[in-house]
Order: sequence, then structure tokens, then C-alpha cells
Amino acid sequence: ISSTEAEQKDDHFKEFFQRLQPKKLVEGELLANYQGIWFVADLLRATLTFQKHFKANDSDIFLATMAKSGTTWLKALAFSIVNRNNHSVDESPLLFSNPHYLVPFLEMHLYKDGNIPDIDAMPCPRILATHLPYQLLPSTILDCSNSRIIYLCRNPLDVFTSTRHFVLQNGFASRPSASLDVPFETFCQGIYPYGPFWDHCLGYWNASLKDPQKVLFLKYEDLKKDINSSVKKIADFLGYPLSAEEEEAGLVEEIATLCSFENLMNLNCNKEGEIQTVFRAKHNSFFRKGEVGDWVNLVPPSMANRLEKLMQEKFGESGLTL
Ligand code: A3P
Repeated sequence: ISSTEAEQKDDHFKEFFQRLQPKKLVEGELLANYQGIWFVADLLRATLTFQKHFKANDSDIFLATMAKSGTTWLKALAFSIVNRNNHSVDESPLLFSNPHYLVPFLEMHLYKDGNIPDIDAMPCPRILATHLPYQLLPSTILDCSNSRIIYLCRNPLDVFTSTRHFVLQNGFASRPSASLDVPFETFCQGIYPYGPFWDHCLGYWNASLKDPQKVLFLKYEDLKKDINSSVKKIADFLGYPLSAEEEEAGLVEEIATLCSFENLMNLNCNKEGEIQTVFRAKHNSFFRKGEVGDWVNLVPPSMANRLEKLMQEKFGESGLTL
């Protein structure tokens, strides 16, 4: 399209964004609520482009998460499981590429800046990631009955803590708040990109109960507790089960070790460089501690109690606990 057309589209989008009456957060971001979810302008534009142009196919695999729930880990695991016959573990592309290039984000990366990628050129099965909540996934994904969705969630206090470090490390807050009060309050109100947290989890939780063939709901804490069973579970769900011979040969453990925090964080491709999606983030900022319960080092007990109560209230009778 010509530059004038592009400028017109840009103006239309800016007007649309203004009509959503965006809020200016204390830390400097302008966020608008679109269909119940909070977006910065560039992210919303990318989401709308993705929703309009993406066409799913039956072999697609979608990895969905709220940011800082272990997306990088899930990408590495799914990529290794699905591609295990294309290259041996010691020649894995994961040794040379940050997982976010091997399994790109849809709205946040491929469709950013109004870009319409040639997604059909990607080899099948395509493994693609999104931070969008279930209710904002384009219908093409839900209509392709054989495509699969894996959702990974994590304890909200750890997500909050991980997010705080990520925001500060990458300089996302233009006026970072010295106290935790402001970011904690906005987290509890659900006002941050892709928030609220509880709607995000509940959307995929309910979808996994309704259609367990289509949506696999995983918890970061369960992966930490037993990664070998989790590798097998993911492989089974995706239709790439490990054979008895593969298990015998120790492939489950090899994949788990390849994708482990310790292994990935020490690779040069993850220690250096940065990725430019809608946000610019350092590769090493995706590997911080990789622990369960690190929130105790940041969040005081009174705040933790408040968030725990809020989650109980929001999750209600859904059966979901985190
Ligand atoms: P912490 O900040 O608590 O350490 P995301 O990938 O969704 O951005 O989530 C990042 C979080 O997952 C970070 O948590 C990061 O350290 C952790 N993480 C990254 N790779 C991991 C791995 N291979 N195993 C376990 N945790 C991992």
C-alpha cells in the first residue's frame, strides 16, 4: 500500500484508540480497554491486524500464556518435542536461537506495525504463540478442529514479581515507581497489557474443561515439579507421543535438560542480544530465576494476602486454583 494509504490507516487507528478513552498509568503507559482487555496502542493495532488476516490450519499448534508465566520454557519444550525427528537434541536450533524466534508471537511480533506476514510459507506444523486471552482469539483458530492450544499459567504472585523485574530490566516504565504500591494496585485492578490476569486464566480454563482435546491447561508449578511427565503429556496432547524406544533411549530426559532453565540461560544466544516485538526486550531478561515462590523476596505478606483473596473471589466456583 502507498504511504498515503498507510498514513490514513494510521490516523483511523489513532482515532479508534482515542475513542476507547485510554487511561494514562502513573508509570507512563497509555492503556485502552478493548473488549475487556487492556492494550497499549501498538499492541491493539497488531491484535486487530492478526484477527483480521490470520488463517489457521489443522496442523497448527498455539501456545498461549499471560506474559511471565513461562512462555519461553513452553516454546522450547513444544519446539523440541515436535521437531525431534528433524534434528538431534545436540544439534537443536535452540542451541543457537532464542526460543522467541523459533516460536514467534503472533499479534506481538509477526503482525506488529500493520505487517501481514506470509504465514503460509512457514513449515508445518506451525508452532505459534500468543498472549491474547481465549475470547480474543480469531474464530479461524477455534474452527480448525484439529489445531491444538496449550495454555500455561502460573501463580499470580510469581507472575507479578517476574513482570516487575522484567519491566525494570527492560526500561518499560518511563517513570518507574520507587514503591511497589502503584504497580501492585494496577495488577489488582487488572490494568496492564493483556490484563486482567484472572480473566485470562479463566477463559482458557473453561475452554479446557469444555474441550480437553483442543485446549491443554498446564501450570508452571507442575512443570517444575515433574518435567518428565509434563514432556510426555505435551507430546501426547499434540499428537507426537514418545515411543517406548524413545523413552528407553532417554529422550524425555534429554528434551527436559535441553529446555531447562540452567541450560538455556547459559547459551550465548540467550545471554546476548535483544528481540524487537511490539516491545524491545533483552534476551537474558527472559531468564531470571526460574523458581516457584520467588515472590516472597518482593511482595510483603499483606499484599500477598490481598492478591490471594482477590484470586479466590475471581476464580469462585470455577475449580481453578493457582
Ligand atoms: P522469573 O522472573 O520468576 O525467573 P515468560 O517466558 O512467560 O516471559 O516467563 C519468564 C519467566 O519464566 C521468568 O521467571 C523466567 O526466569 C522463567 N523461565 C524462563 N525459562 C525457563 C525455563 N527453561 N525453566 C523454568 N523457568 C523458566
